[in-house]
Formats: sequence, structure tokens, C-alpha cells
Amino acid sequence: MSISRRRLLQVGLASGAAAVGGSYVWQAQARNSSRRPFTNALQIPPLLHGTPQADGRKLFELEARSATTEFFKGTATPTIGVNGSFLGPTLKCRSGDQVTIKVSNKLAYDITLHWHGLHVPAKADGGPHQVIRPGASWSPSFEIKQKAALFWYHSHLMGRTGQQVNDGLAGLILIDDDESASLGLPSAYGIDDIPLVVQDRRFNRDGSFAYLTSMHDAMMGFQGDTILVNGTPAPYLTVRRQLTRLRLLNGSNSRIYNFAFEDGRSFTQIASDGSLLERPVRRKRLRLAPGERAEMLVEMRSDSSVVLMSYPDSVSGGGMMGRMMQGMAGNSETLRILELRAGKLEGSNSKLPERLAVVPNWQEAQADRTRRFRLDMPMMGGMMGMMRGRGMMGGRGGSGMMRGEMGINGKSMDMGRIDEKVRLGAVEIWAISNPSPLAHPFHIHDIQFRILDRNGRAPGPHETGLKDTVLVDPGETVRVITQFSDFADPERPYMYHCHILEHEDAGMMGQFTVNA
Ligand code: C2O
Ligand code: CU
Ligand code: CU
Repeated sequence: MSISRRRLLQVGLASGAAAVGGSYVWQAQARNSSRRPFTNALQIPPLLHGTPQADGRKLFELEARSATTEFFKGTATPTIGVNGSFLGPTLKCRSGDQVTIKVSNKLAYDITLHWHGLHVPAKADGGPHQVIRPGASWSPSFEIKQKAALFWYHSHLMGRTGQQVNDGLAGLILIDDDESASLGLPSAYGIDDIPLVVQDRRFNRDGSFAYLTSMHDAMMGFQGDTILVNGTPAPYLTVRRQLTRLRLLNGSNSRIYNFAFEDGRSFTQIASDGSLLERPVRRKRLRLAPGERAEMLVEMRSDSSVVLMSYPDSVSGGGMMGRMMQGMAGNSETLRILELRAGKLEGSNSKLPERLAVVPNWQEAQADRTRRFRLDMPMMGGMMGMMRGRGMMGGRGGSGMMRGEMGINGKSMDMGRIDEKVRLGAVEIWAISNPSPLAHPFHIHDIQFRILDRNGRAPGPHETGLKDTVLVDPGETVRVITQFSDFADPERPYMYHCHILEHEDAGMMGQFTVNA
């Protein structure tokens, strides 16, 4: 796409959710109005177990294609699907499995597919360097070296991740292990073990997705006015057991959810991004940023229903500025996510154990070093980044941060520059600080970490599991600790970045290598 003056003007002048490129942006608010009934049965992504090969490997075959999806009766939305029309199947693996995933690109443009949260060699990671050309396929092989948890795959194409994920290039990876299997947790997929990919979208009147239509979108991150769960608008779930496990992925580009039940009931959180928690935690609210996962157990009584909601986010930092930014970031909304409907329920024999998982617990004293990361978001960053992301500005000349780009430690992402070199086996503390007025979810490839502290305070019990993405609030410094074991490769980098996809696309990303 070359620079179009008209487009630039539109980009520059538009604000908020106002229409750009014509006045046809569907004000879908009405469809999401607070009392809108839940009319669609929640879709459950199909499960893929992989095909056993002669050598014992499991082969998963994924095909990314362009498609149309009927989210609303009589309206065809152009989408990307994996083996289907929107999103993809859930890959089911067990820790220790040897897998090959063949990804075929049937689209007319480049894609990548990244295994978010998986500890795999950099060349198999599916980041911006592992481009799959149109018509080509890519078949990384690796061992599943994870604790039991929910992971996911999604596009990671340089500058186009937000667009491709918005269009549907994403799916789930469900991993279990002996430890989790011994706990007796609800685990009947789609019955009492329910995956929930929560996303927000905006629609044009013709049914197509409206994406990145304003400078506000680019700066604050894109937010939609219509909630989709597993691609289902206005979804309800028929609950079958007294105890149901909800596995939540925030698969949205930028929206932070603050989940709670409408009747105020509490639930039990049992997992975070990359593992079960050490112990179950009783909670009423659960804040989940893009890229993060969490699992909760919910109790239901026969012949009852309850709505999973998302409530306005209390941005820490607070004050007038905090409230203003909260409003600008769109986290001031009350959203109805999913209705749970129970008929006659079967009892569950699940008795919740007191201890769930043994989670690595690196101590500060073990750390070889601390690296510091500052998330930079100049006020003009969005527009520049957006124009660059949409190919409206030439190459990404030079390193360093152009005035107005987004970056980390004063540098905007450059695929040709290695920002950090980590020694194989090192235990490191990464201290991420956020001087900007928006919360940013910071994600690190390759490893799972533990949160050491937030502004010096130990994390709450719901943060005592493995994580790969951590929300850093305005004014906060979060220290995480991890070990970089396996997979030295001085040539091929892993990424770390903000998981607000518009920020990532605008340059809030860096690269590290692991070196023997
Ligand atoms: Cu969810 Cu770098 O990715
Ligand atoms: Cu990732
Ligand atoms: Cu960000």
C-alpha cells in the first residue's frame, strides 16, 4: 500500500470510534446493549489430538485460509480461519509429547504462527522471522516441555499481527501432564472443561470487520464494541455439571477484562498462564490482559443461570489522570460476556485438592543479573506506528526510536538488531517499568516466569503460578524471575513485547538470543 493522502487525512482527523473511510462504521453498541439476550449456543473449537507417526511423533496439520463467517444471520464477514472459517482447532498435547505442526498458508499474503507460552527452539517459535509465504508450508518439530495449562497460537507477522489476529488467525493449545491428571479436576472438554477465547470486534455495516480506523485505535489499542467468545456473539453455555472449569484466554487485541459474575458469587481460580497455581484461590474478580490466561472453577445449582461479566477496570495509579486514561482506553465499560445456563445437573465427584501444582520458585539470590525494560509510549506514538504498520511509511530505517514511535528502552523494534543476549542456563530478573499513562501487558517468548514483586510488594496468591505475560500498570515496576534453559541459538532471536497488538505492531517489541 502506498501513501494515500486521503487516507492520511482520514487517519489524522478521525478520533474515537468515529467513522473513517466513509461513514459506515456500524454503531454496534445497540447490539451489545446491557439487556441483550444471549441467543447463541457457545461454539467449542474442535479438538485435534494429532496423528501418531511411525516414529512416535504426533502430527498436527493446520491450514490457514481466507473465509467468510456468519456471525450475524444473513451477514458474511470476511475472516481468516485455521481448518475452519474463524479461529482454529484446539491442539491437545501432553507434556513430553514429540510433535510436528504443519502449517500451510493458503492465504494470499505472508503469515506466521507463533506458539504463545511454549518453551521451544527459537527457529520453531513462529515469531516475525519464521514467515510462511503464500502457498508455502512450515513444519516445526519440538518436544512439549510445559506444565499443564492453556496456551495459544496466533499470527506474529511484523507490523501485521493486530490485523491478522483480528481477522481470526489464532487458536488454543491445551496441555496436560501427570500431575494435573492426578488431581481429578473437571477435564471433559466442552462438557465441564470449557475453553473461552474472549475477543472484542467492531463491524462495518456491510458485515466486514472494522479494524484500526482511527488514531485513537492505534494509540490506545484497538477495541471493539461486540464481544465474541470462541467466535460466538451473545453466547450462552449449557452447563452440565455442578462444577465447571472455565479456561479463559484474553485473545483481544488490547482490551483488558475484569471478569466477575453478575450475582457477585465467588469462584475458585486454579491456574494462570503457564501452570496451575500452587493452591486454589477463592476470588470474586479476575483481571485478564491480552495474551493472559486463567482458569476458574464455578459452582452452579440446577435450574439456575448466571452471567459472566466484565466490569470497569480500576487502573491503579488512580486519580483524575487515571480515570481519564481509563475512559480513553475503554476500560470503563460494563460488558456482558457469557451466560451460564444450568438445567438438571449431574453432581461432580471433583473434590478440590488443597495443593495443585509444584511450581518452580526461583529465589532472588539465585539471579545472575537484572535487566531493566522501560515501556515507552510517546503521545504521538500511535499514529506513526500505525502508519508504519499499514505500510504508509517507507522501510523501518535505522534503529533507535523515531520521535513518536513506541518502543522499549528508547528503541523501536528492529528485526535486524539483537537487544539482549542471555547466557544459557542463567537465572535472571527482568524489571519492567511503565512510566506511561496506559497499562501494558509485557510478554516474553521462550520461558515461563514467576512474578517477584510489583513496586516492591509480593504478588497476591492468584499470581503464584507460572506466567509468560504480566500486566504492568501505569507507574508500576514489576520484577519477574526466570531461568533460560535449553535452546541456545546465537543467530535466531526470541521476542519480548507489549501484548497490546497495536503497540507491538508500532514497535513496542525487542529481541533476545540465548547463547551457550
Ligand atoms: Cu502472544 Cu509474541 O506473542
Ligand atoms: Cu509469545
Ligand atoms: Cu502497550
